[in-house]
Amino acid sequence: MTTELTIRRPDDWHLHLRDGAMLEGVIGDTSRHFARAIIMPNLVPPVVTTADAAAYRDRILAALPEGDRFEPLMTLYLTEHTDPDDVEAGYESGLIRAVKLYPAGATTNSHGGVRDMDKAMPVLERMAKIGLTLCVHGEVTTPDVDIFDREAVFIETVLDPLRARLPELRVTMEHVTTKNGVDYIKSAKANLAGSITTHHLIINRNAILVGGIKPHYYCLPVAKREEHRLALRAAATSGDGRFFLGTDSAPHVDPLKECACGCAGIYTSINTMSCLAHVFEEERALDKLEAFASLNGPAWYGLPANAETIRLVRRAQPAAFPAKIETGAGPVTVFDPMFPLHWDVA
Ligand code: NCD
Ligand code: ZN
Repeated sequence: MTTELTIRRPDDWHLHLRDGAMLEGVIGDTSRHFARAIIMPNLVPPVVTTADAAAYRDRILAALPEGDRFEPLMTLYLTEHTDPDDVEAGYESGLIRAVKLYPAGATTNSHGGVRDMDKAMPVLERMAKIGLTLCVHGEVTTPDVDIFDREAVFIETVLDPLRARLPELRVTMEHVTTKNGVDYIKSAKANLAGSITTHHLIINRNAILVGGIKPHYYCLPVAKREEHRLALRAAATSGDGRFFLGTDSAPHVDPLKECACGCAGIYTSINTMSCLAHVFEEERALDKLEAFASLNGPAWYGLPANAETIRLVRRAQPAAFPAKIETGAGPVTVFDPMFPLHWDVA
């Protein structure tokens, strides 16, 4: 049995760090293991201009624990009024690594997102021209579509038509949760990749609904049926360069999760590498973990893989992660994979 594994230092290609006291409380859990992360722009108010992104980047760097080296890769929140020239200037300066499409109403702080894709076309056309990636929250929000079908319907009615209209546009389908998403990415000839979260490799929708309602397993896109989880595991552990890690670690304080209208989001930054090593070991694919967590993402985003390495060790005694972390904003419950975590970063 393999009990040690050294891989290039991983990156997180989809992360929510929030701001203020929450940012200060969570950033160390990412910078401990990860060298870089794509930072989601859904703050209140959102990060919509290059100037907003530059200021947010400074706040992130100021919150880093002493001695940690971590590079936040900044994104812009796409609105119907985003200025293509500002996007291009941000990209050319090296600050902006992607633009994020939230269909209006799809998830946390997405009300300022896009309602009418036609209004976003000038920015998207500019991005296609300069080679800037669009990160997509791939869900429709129309009330007649079942929440478990939102991703599949988005692919058919929004994403595929957009890619036909603008084949040069590079698109990351973020947090893919369905077999439909996996198959769609695999069928694309170019310019499409997908990130997969830690938790969607581990839970299916039963985790949220069986034996009582479990708000700490609720996130968006919501976890789907078991067949979808299995398709995600196959994709993540295949070594296929189009699939890589984006944890979508999304902290909310417990009172906002444990209430009559709880927020979507699961906090996994602290134990992601332990969870992933467990999953890849179960799939007899530990040799593919480095591709998923450390190589495929940088290749897609045109960055070098990290030179440093981390060492994962399988211990007889499971690692003891806290059930909650305390932040200045309040307590945040840590993702419980419902199995003991023998792997840990040494
Ligand atoms: C995210 C958040 O809380 O910001 N929540 C989530 O469930 N993933 C938003 C998102 O990425 O959808
Ligand atoms: Zn997210």
